Amino acid sequence: MNVFLKPVFVLAFALAASTGFAQTIKIGFITSYSGLNGNLGPYMERAVRLYIKQHQKELPPGVKIELITRDDTGPNPDKAKQLAQELIVRERVHMLAGVIFTPNALAIAPLATEAKVPFVIMNAGTSVISTRSPYIARTSFTLWQSSFPLGQWASKKFKTAYTLVSDFGPGHDAETAFSMAFKEGGGKVLDSVRVPLQNPDFAAYMQRVKDAKPDALMVFIPAGKTATAVMKNFSDLGLDKAGIKLIGPGDITTEEELPNMGDVALGVTTVFHWSAAGDRPANKAFIAAWKKEYGQNETPNFLSVGSWDGTALIFEAIKRQKGKLDPDKTMEIFKGWKFADSPRGPISIDPETRDIIQPEYLREVRRVNGQLANVELETLGKAVKDPWKELQKKK
Ligand code: PHB
Repeated sequence: MNVFLKPVFVLAFALAASTGFAQTIKIGFITSYSGLNGNLGPYMERAVRLYIKQHQKELPPGVKIELITRDDTGPNPDKAKQLAQELIVRERVHMLAGVIFTPNALAIAPLATEAKVPFVIMNAGTSVISTRSPYIARTSFTLWQSSFPLGQWASKKFKTAYTLVSDFGPGHDAETAFSMAFKEGGGKVLDSVRVPLQNPDFAAYMQRVKDAKPDALMVFIPAGKTATAVMKNFSDLGLDKAGIKLIGPGDITTEEELPNMGDVALGVTTVFHWSAAGDRPANKAFIAAWKKEYGQNETPNFLSVGSWDGTALIFEAIKRQKGKLDPDKTMEIFKGWKFADSPRGPISIDPETRDIIQPEYLREVRRVNGQLANVELETLGKAVKDPWKELQKKK
């Protein structure tokens, strides 16, 4: 090559790099690595990283994703708000994602609106969250999506029920949704108790439930170790032997705690959008990829699934805009998203509410190959929209 041409090439290349051929998409990822459910943050982050690893070759040439992770330390809205602010102002993230707890998501929502930063919620499940910012899309679930069909199913099986929920947004939603459907189906709710989010004295509450003698006890707690505390107290106080059936949304039999629960979990019936035992090719591939990456004894949980699908949603926006993101275009793309290959079955984003539309399964804890599993018995709905928002429309 002519030596005099060389600098021109170098200059052209530098120019190309600065005008957008190379692009790093920054995602501010907030979850809990300490505090209540601090063990669950990695279940989300691992899913995001695994999705990126498997799919980065699909990104437009020169486009890379940078994940900037932050610890919100559990249900801590002030901390979450501060982290989101820093990610927006200092790190100039293109999107926010993650978030286990409802109070944290609610605290971040106004910042997403103000800064026009799309915010993909990968866990927090209170129905109202997505109404708090037009820049929110949710790939997890709402408690109404599981607890309303649970109430309908339970009303055909039981005459009386008692509800016990953690005293914060998703607990209130689970209680309201279940009770409404159970009563509509002819059931009677004997009593409803709301317990503190952190360190509740389950023994005292369980004794009250036992004395009331309901046919079924519906429980919502925020997954994690609290789920095992519920199981232990339910059995220690003899509610199972008294013939009370334990039911709830799938948070109470979350996959990562099943090995810690023991036989008391057997027969617990839940409604949820996903189970590790789900017999779908996309789910089997997801679980196999997880084990290959993180170890044969590792299993993803529902927070991993919300994060996996949330990353697929983010990829769609990056691919369709060829790596040059405009927040309003991103939201338009989110609204039309359909994904046939979710581990939970086909899902989509509701263009009206930006909430997920997904299947809901009736599941029962059984022993499969020596290990406890949430065995899916029946599909209660293939494309369930958030029932709370459907009810609001009718008002
Ligand atoms: C929530 O805060 O919205 C939340 C937390 C944990 C769960 C479900 C919902 O298991």
